[in-house]
Amino acid sequence: MDEERIISPELENSSEEKLENSLRPKTLDEYIGQDKVKENMKIYIEAAKKRGEPLDHCLFYGPPGLGKTTLSNIISNEMNSNIKITSGPAIEKPGDLAALLTNLSEFDVLFIDEIHRLSKSVEEILYPALEDYTLDIIIGKGPSARSIRLDLPKFTLIGATTKAGSLTTPLRDRFGIVHRLELYSPEDLTKIIKRSSGILGVKIDDEAAKEIARRSRGTPRIANRLLKRVRDYATVLGNGDIDKKITKHALNKLEIDELGLDDIDRKILETMIVQYNGKPVGIEALATTIGEEVDTIEDVYEPYLIQIGFIARTVRGRQVLPPAYKHLGYEMSN
Ligand SMILES: Nc1ncnc2c1ncn2[C@@H]1O[C@H](COP(=O)(O)OP(=O)(O)O)[C@@H](O)[C@H]1O
Ligand SMILES: [Mg+2]
Repeated sequence: MDEERIISPELENSSEEKLENSLRPKTLDEYIGQDKVKENMKIYIEAAKKRGEPLDHCLFYGPPGLGKTTLSNIISNEMNSNIKITSGPAIEKPGDLAALLTNLSEFDVLFIDEIHRLSKSVEEILYPALEDYTLDIIIGKGPSARSIRLDLPKFTLIGATTKAGSLTTPLRDRFGIVHRLELYSPEDLTKIIKRSSGILGVKIDDEAAKEIARRSRGTPRIANRLLKRVRDYATVLGNGDIDKKITKHALNKLEIDELGLDDIDRKILETMIVQYNGKPVGIEALATTIGEEVDTIEDVYEPYLIQIGFIARTVRGRQVLPPAYKHLGYEMSN
């Protein structure tokens, strides 16, 4: 499954990254939706500023493309601090983390993406850094080795992950602020699409924005990507303005159905309906049957299929639900 998937919530390439950066909101007020998270963060940020203290360490989790990286940048911006960006797999050795930590300034944000992928030896260095802003490093080797303790600037760690369940308990416990980002409503996605159109300088009408929103799987990254593709169609086939007709035409050409499902979603659902006869199926068995990774199904496909009521998680496995039969045109056998 190497083929690029138009509705993949993962970042695809560097040109998409550039686009994303240009569309990223810079302040909490510009950040659309996620009201509960926003409200809480506003209070915490203001309180920290009033007390002249760093913000508590934050953990944001949820499916890809929902705005974890964006939110982290906004927080450092609202704290008037700098942000250093890295990721779990990029920090290979304890020394790499030590170098990052000792280069921070007071109140800086250290953002670690995919924080569930930190190695154990790196994690252990992180604990005292998070708790007391200290760093224990070992100098020398063998019998002459000794440990020294360094004081670190008071910083804020922001961790992001799609798999909160894979975090070790000691690491998880060291975050004072933990928030799950939710899939966005079509209304919020419509606002995001209109905002992005404004930045891109393209005219879009309400109906068209709503149509793209409905097919974006609750995910801003997908909404922005679809907008870009629809814009291409509007440029070539029309005068550049986006209306509902050109939107429908473009999205149908891209084989994204009315609900934003693509062939892989349909394959998942059909397998559950036909091969497993609508009975609960274990995630491993399902993954093997359709030739996808368990992680990909759990992080990428399933959240949206659950959100729209097509799949449920049960103790006996994943269960396909009646609306999925209806959408795909299958009769229920019992
Ligand atoms: N709340 C939001 N309001 C407006 N745009 C958003 C919001 N959340 C995400 N986006 C857009 O979606 C894109 C992906 O967000 P990102 O923060 O990279 O997701 P994540 O880090 O969770 O994978 C960004 O380019 C940003 O423009
Ligand atoms: Mg990210």
